[in-house]
Amino acid sequence: MSVSTLFDKIPREAPGAVETLTIRRPDDWHVHLRDGAMLKAVLPFTAAQFRRGIIMPNLVPPVTSIEAALAYRGRILAARPEGCDFAPLMTCYLTDATSPDEIERGFRDGVWAAAKLYPAGATTNAHHGVTDIAALAPVLERMEKIGMPVLIHGEATDPAVDIFDREAVFMEEEMLPLLRRHQGLKVVVEHVTTAETVALVRAHAGRAAGTITPHHLIINRTSIFQGGLRPHLYCLPVAKRERHRLALREAATSGDGNFFIGTDTAPHLRAAKQAECCSAGVFGGATALQTYVQVFDEEGALSRFEAFAAENGARFYGLPLNEGTITLEKRPCRVSPVVAVGEEDVVVFRGGEDLPWSLGGTRP
Ligand code: NCD
Ligand code: ZN
Repeated sequence: MSVSTLFDKIPREAPGAVETLTIRRPDDWHVHLRDGAMLKAVLPFTAAQFRRGIIMPNLVPPVTSIEAALAYRGRILAARPEGCDFAPLMTCYLTDATSPDEIERGFRDGVWAAAKLYPAGATTNAHHGVTDIAALAPVLERMEKIGMPVLIHGEATDPAVDIFDREAVFMEEEMLPLLRRHQGLKVVVEHVTTAETVALVRAHAGRAAGTITPHHLIINRTSIFQGGLRPHLYCLPVAKRERHRLALREAATSGDGNFFIGTDTAPHLRAAKQAECCSAGVFGGATALQTYVQVFDEEGALSRFEAFAAENGARFYGLPLNEGTITLEKRPCRVSPVVAVGEEDVVVFRGGEDLPWSLGGTRP
């Protein structure tokens, strides 16, 4: 399925000039591309919007070695559409057995851009994650020394903790102590979902940053139950109350350099979502940039969109800014409900909706 066939142009009622916004080509600092047929099906959507992507390592089995990362990077490069220059930035899945030397070697050789810390069992394919974050100190100290960012899925894993409190509990019990222990470590607080986590990131500006997903800017926890249970809006961390959604919109659009794009696009086949036990993950990758730009437009912050989309993340990671531009057009389009994956499909976030913004052209 090609990218353009997912979007149907809607004829505009009023003729006249289309409002456009041209920005430096953006990056996605948190993306699940999966593997095999799913990779082939979803990659074109990410690659049509973003120049680079931080690739999540929670495959089965997880990407824990340099060798596995190089092989996975090769499969991603091979799955790119013809002429596409999307660059995957690989991450190391941290486990209780991760060796500081493997981390340093992979970072120095340009294989790893960062390492991902999943508390064991916190989310999809996180069962090989870290059981005792304090015991990870030798790895984190090494990362601190070499300037390698750690990307943290910040949710408590104790099943007794209310699911809507898991981020807050993790921040108090794990994130703050970690930030105290490792004062020079670059920490990305992934997919921020609460006002309190926004404040935590701001209180550690410079050494902590936060990614914000498109879906957490659009939905709150009530959306998941709107008219019935909406499995395609279920992800981790789960969306929170409306006041938190508003805090995320403020953080993203405020011009604060500590926040940047991380779509957390996490496709699952429809059968895994519409199931007795629905997998966590929203496939936001196909409509991400259109959604972010809409939010900035609604908040009167279009002039601050480029920094959020294409500058803040690269600066935090210490990577060069992209060359080239992408143009977004305030021209409505209708999104197809699904992306085909072989005989099966994945339900698109905002599929079936009319979006006010469309993707225009990219210049390399
Ligand atoms: C992600 C996935 O499906 O891999 N799911 C999700 O709900 N976000 C894992 C993750 O990032 O938590
Ligand atoms: Zn994720």
